[in-house]
Amino acid sequence: MAANTFGDAFRVTTFGESHGVGVGCVIDGCPPGHHLDLAAIQAAMARRRPGQSALTTPRDEEDRIEVLSGVEADTGVTLGTPICLLVRNQDARSSAYDEWHHIYRPSHADFGYDAKFGVRAWQGGGRASARETVGRVAAGALAEQLLTARFPDLRICAWVERVHRIDAAAVIDPGAVTRALVDAHPTRCPHPATAAQMEAEILAAKKRGDSVGGYVRIYAQGLPVGLGEPVFDKLDALLAQGFLSLPACKGFELGSGFSGPDLTGLEHNDPYHWAPPTSDVGRRTSDVPKMTTTTNRSGGIQGGISNGMPIDGRLVFKPTATVLKPQASADDGGNNVELQAKGRHDPCVLPRAVPIVEAMTALVLVDCWLRQRAQVGDPWPGLRGPLHADGGPSPA
Ligand SMILES: Cc1cc2nc3c(=O)[nH]c(=O)nc-3n(C[C@H](O)[C@H](O)[C@H](O)COP(=O)(O)O)c2cc1C
Repeated sequence: MAANTFGDAFRVTTFGESHGVGVGCVIDGCPPGHHLDLAAIQAAMARRRPGQSALTTPRDEEDRIEVLSGVEADTGVTLGTPICLLVRNQDARSSAYDEWHHIYRPSHADFGYDAKFGVRAWQGGGRASARETVGRVAAGALAEQLLTARFPDLRICAWVERVHRIDAAAVIDPGAVTRALVDAHPTRCPHPATAAQMEAEILAAKKRGDSVGGYVRIYAQGLPVGLGEPVFDKLDALLAQGFLSLPACKGFELGSGFSGPDLTGLEHNDPYHWAPPTSDVGRRTSDVPKMTTTTNRSGGIQGGISNGMPIDGRLVFKPTATVLKPQASADDGGNNVELQAKGRHDPCVLPRAVPIVEAMTALVLVDCWLRQRAQVGDPWPGLRGPLHADGGPSPA
């Protein structure tokens, strides 16, 4: 299992198993001199932690971050050396897995790990557990701090858009959603009436010993132009890799995505438009005309490079694999058996997936920014407004 590291300039390695001593991350490549806001990292952990409501697993983890290295103890300033963040597991109950640990959970990672390694951490799913994402959320919170220090307008926001067949896409204005609105309801859907229906759907599935899946929408505003590399490390390709590496995430679409073919090219294209300088956004580039598009079917990325419009995408998460009703399965001894799973599980992973998706977005963006800075310097041409004085368009 060699691939536990994500990123190129801002490299995050996650470690730890669900029922081991702890989980966390090592971040290599964090710029020195940043005042690490530990309270903000802890706040991000609180949004991800289990036991938040009746809609999530009752496993009760405090998820308190310990900073083991890379930060000056008295000032909290990053040193430029590897930063190790640790969270100790406190409420793992491995006995819940004793009776059935030879049986593979349908649609979980048990069989794959066993087939690959011949051994697996059967208590709690090991690295396949969503506890692995503790390290991503901690590193993502730091990444977001670095990004917003440089790009003060940046707002990364995700929310639950759909649970099973209840879909809120038509009633939500993405540009108006804030984290406060998202967190106002335990489903993390920012439309209260639809959120109430989603909650009932999740609780009904839980009562039946079943589970449900859905969509998370990701929307990042105030992004600079120019992030992402032209060929293999396109910004959309990096986001797709990051998102599809999340447990239970089965798809990602950007902008018009799979519904793009409903339109013709003329209907689908995003017309460019130079917007006049604005003073209301607090952006460093606000004193120059800004390239925009009048629609955003591209989801903020063209040619693998951010165009300055919001990143707008949707992720699909499957129904939780571990359900508490008996299911047909097979064990590691060659027998076809019935599985009666036990333990504490999320009847729907969507509400807790929201801060994880935001963290993954921040990890991709900070890596792209540091790579851009290393190759081109900062600021770079696209932040200066019209690029070519001769023949370039005039501000509107
Ligand atoms: C926030 C979150 C919580 C999750 N909680 C559970 C859970 O309680 N039980 C479970 O079986 N799977 C849970 N999962 C999903 C599994 O980790 C995942 O399905 C498993 O690793 C198999 O990987 P795959 O679904 O990507 O193929 C959760 C995923 C996320 C993102």
